[in-house]
Amino acid sequence: LSLYLTFCEAEDYVLDDRSGLGRRFDGIGGLSGGGATSRLLVNYAEPYRSQILDYLFKPNFGASLHILKVEIGGDAQTTDGTEPSHMHYENDENYFRGYEWWLMKEAKKRNPNITLIGLPWAFPGWVGHGTNWPYDFPDITAYYVVSWIIGAKQYHDLDINYIGIWNERKFDSKYIKLLRYTLDKSGLQQVKIVASDNLWEPISTSVIFDEELSSAVEVIGAHYPGTTTVTQALLTGKPLWASEDYSTFNDDVGGGCWARILNQNYVNGRMTGTISWNLIASYYENLSFGRDGLMTAEEPWSGNYVVESPIWITAHTTQFAQPGWRYLKTLGHLEQGGSYVAFTDGNGNLTIVIETMTHDHSQCIRPPLPAFNVSAQSATFHLKGSFNALTSLQVWHSKLDFKRQNSILFKQLSPMKLSDGTFSLDLDVDEVYTLTTITTGQKGAHPAPPSSTPFPKIYKDDFNVRNPPFTEAPDFADQTGVFEYFINLTDPGPHVFTLRQVVTQRPVTWSADADQTISIIGDHNWQNLTVTCDIFIETAKTGGVFIAARVDQGGEAVRHAKGVFFWVYADGTYKVTNDIGGQIVLAEGLSGTQAGVWHTLSLTVKGQYATGMLNGYPLWKSAVVLQPKNGWAAIGTNTFELAQYDNFAIEAE
Ligand code: GAL
Ligand code: CA
Repeated sequence: LSLYLTFCEAEDYVLDDRSGLGRRFDGIGGLSGGGATSRLLVNYAEPYRSQILDYLFKPNFGASLHILKVEIGGDAQTTDGTEPSHMHYENDENYFRGYEWWLMKEAKKRNPNITLIGLPWAFPGWVGHGTNWPYDFPDITAYYVVSWIIGAKQYHDLDINYIGIWNERKFDSKYIKLLRYTLDKSGLQQVKIVASDNLWEPISTSVIFDEELSSAVEVIGAHYPGTTTVTQALLTGKPLWASEDYSTFNDDVGGGCWARILNQNYVNGRMTGTISWNLIASYYENLSFGRDGLMTAEEPWSGNYVVESPIWITAHTTQFAQPGWRYLKTLGHLEQGGSYVAFTDGNGNLTIVIETMTHDHSQCIRPPLPAFNVSAQSATFHLKGSFNALTSLQVWHSKLDFKRQNSILFKQLSPMKLSDGTFSLDLDVDEVYTLTTITTGQKGAHPAPPSSTPFPKIYKDDFNVRNPPFTEAPDFADQTGVFEYFINLTDPGPHVFTLRQVVTQRPVTWSADADQTISIIGDHNWQNLTVTCDIFIETAKTGGVFIAARVDQGGEAVRHAKGVFFWVYADGTYKVTNDIGGQIVLAEGLSGTQAGVWHTLSLTVKGQYATGMLNGYPLWKSAVVLQPKNGWAAIGTNTFELAQYDNFAIEAE
């Protein structure tokens, strides 16, 4: 039989550095943001939060990521929520908002060599001067972005390595050059530009024909390239990255997708960096693209998190090849399907990663994957050149098992003995092998986290925190606008510490933000519940706020959110609507509410009926609610306006 195998199926592959090396390897990373994808992570209690960070960033432990890319918050909806800007208003600057600073510091703590990248999706309204466009005043946009980089250093001692232009939107050559100029003028020559975080074109052609643009741009970054590139991109002579990729549900097919593209982005497309959207699925799963992260941590209330297969697939490369290593030139596809890549540090170390993912077990969310076949095969590798003298290699193995759901993930096998630089492997389908001279690999493990539980049915927050570690209150997930802890220095009564909506102008949006602001919280399965909250309208005459239940959607669909919305207005009226847009009116009338006064709202939804109270007295009752049947609780405002909330409480059945 072995003779038969040798004769019919065994193929030979040569790994050789004698004719020079391939491209520099720039690393594998994760993307936090685009948007609010790490929102719930920050609310995990210790030790779970640190454990999760270890699985992501700690060298020789888990995913051991080389790159962390973050969103530069722009106060607007960017997929799973909004992230706050460091400059809400023209004369405002604050480098302690949100959680990306914290995340970058936690990553750096674990891996001081990690590469940091920032990219805007959206911009505060003032950057666009009332337009939905960031390039009319390119000097303002450049100042805004460079301020973020300077703030990172000044307040957090974070050195940003790369900066992007505008996620998946048009670039403007004049702006890119001005950004380069502004960086240089600010002493930030070492901060390099990635462009354009969209498709290979038209940025590649623009770079080829514009010398000044070419010298401004360091890396061509394309999104979801499907492992391929185009001639023009190669002709730029620049490093090519899949600067956003993956976005696939993180079960084992997601693991298969990730294994295939990590190898084949270089084999087919000469990409030397690949960044996963997203880093970690830490947002309510019913928002857009639930669980499209390398691992899952969506339950800060329980502490439960899941180290999914993509973490261990990542480890196959990240623990054994570092940015600055080079790919070998001798790599490619396996005869019976799958691929192999090899890296060296130029000092005798060698890492080979082999994957044999089948089509159906490695489909990513996009683009469509053309048909191909993979079958079991034997492969014999011959190491030549400086690797010929190696006598053994460490072996790490994964096998995704779709039949018995019993996958082997990142398991160390006995070292492979080499004779005359040759070794053979029997490869089955849906496997990953790493063969390496590096001996520091480790499958890190923390004790199992607590088990999964639903969001607590009884929930309260009085926002009475003097020095909050983060600007947002636990578990609130802003979907339009930004809700921050606030201190009322002049409040005589019980509302010194509140939560405040602070975005007062429609941002330069990335997706279709609602015309109202909204922050959701709780369990999307909730049907019957009471939401209570003290509210404070700040805008006289025209202002308004709401509390809501059964809010059915957020994310990029937030404009179309349905639910039960209980609004009160500064003009002394109230309304109950079935939608955030306020078009489907279930009840309305006089409330006597006004701006500058605290009121207590209470909304109870039970079966097909809703009831509202104001300051402890019934205001309206028995509004008929046929749909939606379930959804989150929420708070928000009528327009982009200031408003405050206090003593938020939920009692759900
Ligand atoms: C990308 C985008 C991300 C996220 C992702 C979902 O195109 O940049 O922010 O929306 O799609 O697949
Ligand atoms: Ca309070």
